[in-house]
Amino acid sequence: MKRPTAYLAGIGKYAPTRILKNADFAAMGIDTTDEWIVQRTGIRERHIADATETNTSMSERAARIAMERAGVQAGEIDVIVLGTASPDRLLPATAVELQAALGAKRAAAFDVMAACSSFLYGLIVAEGLMQSGAAETCLVVGTEKLSSIVDWKDRSTCVLFGDGAGAAILKRSRGGRGILSTFFRSDGTLAELLWRPGGGAALPFDEQVLQDRSFYIKMEGREVFRHAVRSMTEATDRALDGAKLTGADIDLLIPHQANMRIIEATAKHAAIPMEKVFVNVDRYGNTSSASVAIALEEAQASGRITDGMNVLLVAFGAGFTWASLVIRF
Ligand code: ACO
Repeated sequence: MKRPTAYLAGIGKYAPTRILKNADFAAMGIDTTDEWIVQRTGIRERHIADATETNTSMSERAARIAMERAGVQAGEIDVIVLGTASPDRLLPATAVELQAALGAKRAAAFDVMAACSSFLYGLIVAEGLMQSGAAETCLVVGTEKLSSIVDWKDRSTCVLFGDGAGAAILKRSRGGRGILSTFFRSDGTLAELLWRPGGGAALPFDEQVLQDRSFYIKMEGREVFRHAVRSMTEATDRALDGAKLTGADIDLLIPHQANMRIIEATAKHAAIPMEKVFVNVDRYGNTSSASVAIALEEAQASGRITDGMNVLLVAFGAGFTWASLVIRF
């Protein structure tokens, strides 16, 4: 196990105030039931941004909380790494809009796009920059306004997702706390199982894209499910190996919050009892890049993470991408 370079000095989150419950879909003309959604996914409700809220505004609120908790001013941030699958614009990166909103004048800011693994990828990239000496203080954000990119006419996807943002300040570690191990992988041969085919440079936005609704998320749910379980179990094994720990040493598992059945399969594989697994998918749905960040903030704010605990983060998303970290708090 390596000596940690970076630790999470402050974590913040923001969730829009509007809540959409499973029962509300009927009034929107969507043919689904609370029972189907709860049984298949564990989701009961999700937060939905209003027209004025953006990834920039949501992540600014999350970041300011993280900065306050870390005792960090905007001018001290060297790098902003922002993960999102629903950027505010195709150009420029949402990270630079966040930089401007925060007034983080000397920060380099860029987006990472690893879908639901983005926040974990962001932590890994930021830790690497700190190891290289390129940065001392980093802001890592996961944010999504998925309500703008889901097809509200496709019941197989629109019931799954929610909006929100989470943020963490990374500072140089002193003592034994911080990131103990990291693991990340991707497999682009499976991109078409979960993607937005149209609207980018390969298939620019035009009448056809509009007609096919191909600028919205398309997902082969069953196939994604299979790969999610396989990849998240691999990722938990690899992060534990890297930290020279076993499931028994983990005080809290914080998995990507996409589906209760995937969470249970991941925990079972790592021999981590469900009492040691943080779950909020019932209240947020799948917030993709923001999911683990929001869960991390809730776990810490509710006292489920205390000093000295070993916390395992694991995620899987479109790409496919998957990633994991063990962090000692
Ligand atoms: N309400 C009611 N019925 C529905 C709904 C709905 N919202 N959506 C689909 N159905 C129907 C289908 O039409 C199908 O009907 P049929 O049998 O008559 O054809 C039936 O339910 C079964 O559909 P499946 O898609 O096979 O259902 P499944 O049991 O696989 O559950 C689900 C779907 C929940 C999407 C599941 O496959 C899943 O969770 N997949 C993983 C998704 C995921 O975790 N993504 C996260 C990683 S990536 C990321 O987060 C961006």
